[in-house]
Amino acid sequence: MLNRCPTSSYDQVCQVVKKELGGPPEKIFEEFDPVPIASASLAQVHVARTHQGQKVAVKVQHMHMTDTASADYATVELIVNTLHRLFPSFDYRYLALIIVVLGLEYRWLVDEVHDSLPKELDFLNEANNSIKCMDNFRRLSPHIAEYVYAPAVYWDLSTSKLLTMEFVDGPQVNDLNSIQKLGINPHDIARLVSRTFAEMMFKHGFVHCDPHAANLLVRTLPSSRSGIFGRRKPQLVLLDHGLYKQLDVSTRTNYAALWKALVLADAKEIKENCMKFGAGEDLYALFAGILTMRPWNRVIDPAVDHLAIQGNASDHSELQMYASQYFPQITELLHKLPRVILLMLKTNDCLRAVNNALIQRPSVESFIIIGRVSSEALIEEKLSHASSLFTYLFVCFEQISLEARFLIMQVALWILQFRTALGFY
Ligand SMILES: Nc1ncnc2c1ncn2[C@@H]1O[C@H](COP(=O)(O)OP(=O)(O)O)[C@@H](O)[C@H]1O
Ligand SMILES: [Mg+2]
Repeated sequence: MLNRCPTSSYDQVCQVVKKELGGPPEKIFEEFDPVPIASASLAQVHVARTHQGQKVAVKVQHMHMTDTASADYATVELIVNTLHRLFPSFDYRYLALIIVVLGLEYRWLVDEVHDSLPKELDFLNEANNSIKCMDNFRRLSPHIAEYVYAPAVYWDLSTSKLLTMEFVDGPQVNDLNSIQKLGINPHDIARLVSRTFAEMMFKHGFVHCDPHAANLLVRTLPSSRSGIFGRRKPQLVLLDHGLYKQLDVSTRTNYAALWKALVLADAKEIKENCMKFGAGEDLYALFAGILTMRPWNRVIDPAVDHLAIQGNASDHSELQMYASQYFPQITELLHKLPRVILLMLKTNDCLRAVNNALIQRPSVESFIIIGRVSSEALIEEKLSHASSLFTYLFVCFEQISLEARFLIMQVALWILQFRTALGFY
């Protein structure tokens, strides 16, 4: 059941295409490959060519998805898949959460799936999400908008149950071999993935919550030429826009303030911002631990790589102690946190898995990026409310000092990398 996905027969696919677009696939499209390239619990994807000659991906919903039985099947399947994605590598660090989510606290996930399933079943909603996401990048993150892409939607060939998109050719984000063959440096992609999702979380407040590798493709930036040593700039292609979460302004800014504090190892701010999410006096260290997958003493360690350093034996045992000793607190924490934050935890976990596939270790750079983007978002928020010249100047000063801090972190990181490369460690 874990790996088996329902596949619609070609006959069923023809029925859906006929019902949705008014004719059989061979009439609506110039060519239509009857064998799907992918199939999941809700839909399957076929490659086709339009009468104008464009290659497209056609996502066809399985029939009867609105039946209760199918919906229940999809619910169970989605829960299992989500759990699988939440904890891709069974690892001591996830032990606490696995026990809790599987054993006691899966209710939020069931609720979540029940709430989000109708939206995920509406492919026009998915298409609109992809448009809104790209629009957010152009308006709110123009410096990286060019590097992030969602396939164009063919609206005249799309309905709520069938989505026709431009076909994008490119390896998945975890396919290191193909990525290197394209002349793209995996570190550049790791940075781009971190930046892209940090911008969504902290600046847009509209977040793609399913960034696992099959939904992230990589290609060379269409406008880029080869740089030195044939190196090419990457573009990240986001697929599967069915599951998005909207963060309201206060949740978004509190979440940004919390991550900024985590990256800067600011214990007081971490505590204050955890409390805003309901993780009070006895729970904040645990929440910080779950967000960073690091024990509290590492979280507040002022070293530049405090969140990325490989866990040592004592970190292991400290986290395992969390799992067993703080079992009731973990349950309580999951109860208290807003559901949207639980979805951010899931998103973070997908991103961690992608990062590990790309560079095989926790990345200091990705934390510096998270720190930078969360700080930028907070500064932008403050500047938008600056009512006097004095406050404006004060915020500008704060901005300069933060930028200086991150620059120092970046330089410290380079020195660290340089020393590692020379074999000092
Ligand atoms: N526009 C596209 N271009 C190329 N491949 C695509 C495209 N859309 C989907 N795919 C392929 O189909 C798979 C499933 O599509 P996706 O939208 O993620 O559906 P699901 O919701 O079923 O996961 C993707 O992982 C990717 O391999
Ligand atoms: Mg997918």
